[in-house]
Amino acid sequence: MLLTSLLFLRTCSRMNTRKSFQKNLASKPLPLTMMMVVLVLLMQLLMGVSGGSFDEEFKITWGNERGKILNNGQLLTLTLDNFSGSGFESNKEFHFGKIDMQIKLVPGNSAGTVTTYYLSSKGKTHDEIDYEFLGNLTGEPYTVHTNIYAEGKGDREQQFHLWFDPTTDFHTYSILWNPQTIIFAIDEIPIREYKNMESMGIPFPKIHAMRLYSSIWNADQWATQGGRVKTDWSQAPFSSSYRNFKAEACVRVAGTTSCHPQTVTWMKRKLDGLSQSRLNWVRKNFMVYNYCIDTKRFPQGLPKECHVLK
Ligand SMILES: *[C@@H]1O[C@H](CO)[C@@H](O)[C@H](O)[C@H]1NC(C)=O
Repeated sequence: MLLTSLLFLRTCSRMNTRKSFQKNLASKPLPLTMMMVVLVLLMQLLMGVSGGSFDEEFKITWGNERGKILNNGQLLTLTLDNFSGSGFESNKEFHFGKIDMQIKLVPGNSAGTVTTYYLSSKGKTHDEIDYEFLGNLTGEPYTVHTNIYAEGKGDREQQFHLWFDPTTDFHTYSILWNPQTIIFAIDEIPIREYKNMESMGIPFPKIHAMRLYSSIWNADQWATQGGRVKTDWSQAPFSSSYRNFKAEACVRVAGTTSCHPQTVTWMKRKLDGLSQSRLNWVRKNFMVYNYCIDTKRFPQGLPKECHVLK
């Protein structure tokens, strides 16, 4: 919230540099202008506005012009061609939150491409909450790959196929992260939960704030059908689109954390009965990989949490 206000002030000062606006300012008594700014700020606070425009919330961090913010900051696209992919990251660092993004994935023959969307902290013992969307041949299903790193260690993959085609429309991909649990949900249908099991000595992402990242890149050595299907560069550029970013989150700025007014609604949330039955439906019908049953991969025994998680 604080950052939104700061960003707003920055936008104002940017506007200030425009001559016409300056002229406008000069013709009005300063206190009135100040009052207007304060009023708008107050309104923002009251409405709990946080999902600002992509210009305010994110920066394109690689791929140059392959990452684009369009439609007045309402749409973002990332593309991949045979020279490079592209990516963006959030300006804000989040420390718990309910974070939603609508994404439309690479259509047609997307084999070999991977679109990532994840929260991550920095450093050796980093935390991470990951979505990766593995492309496929036209008509074959995308794979949604998920993973969780805590204290620098991942290896907690679960993969799913989807109950819809993620390339024809935008769908909402959510991460709910609070001190008790992490819930991945698509269009509000939970697909995965990772509970806090610290009391059993199982690490849980809790102490680090995380930024939101997304990228598109070529991973045809492994991504599609185990690396057998390669990227068809005659179909390039490949492009994923983003809109309606919404973060009801606690935001860390300069060592201080301030929380969105909606925090009460998610900070203590767990899966209720209905959500749990939806999760079971997804696992039963769409789960294609679960590290917790991959005994071949862990000959010395499954990870500890697998004995607790079903
Ligand atoms: C691609 O399609 C095949 C065949 O339907 C499927 O087994 C696989 O999981 C799909 N996804 C990827 C990323 O290979």
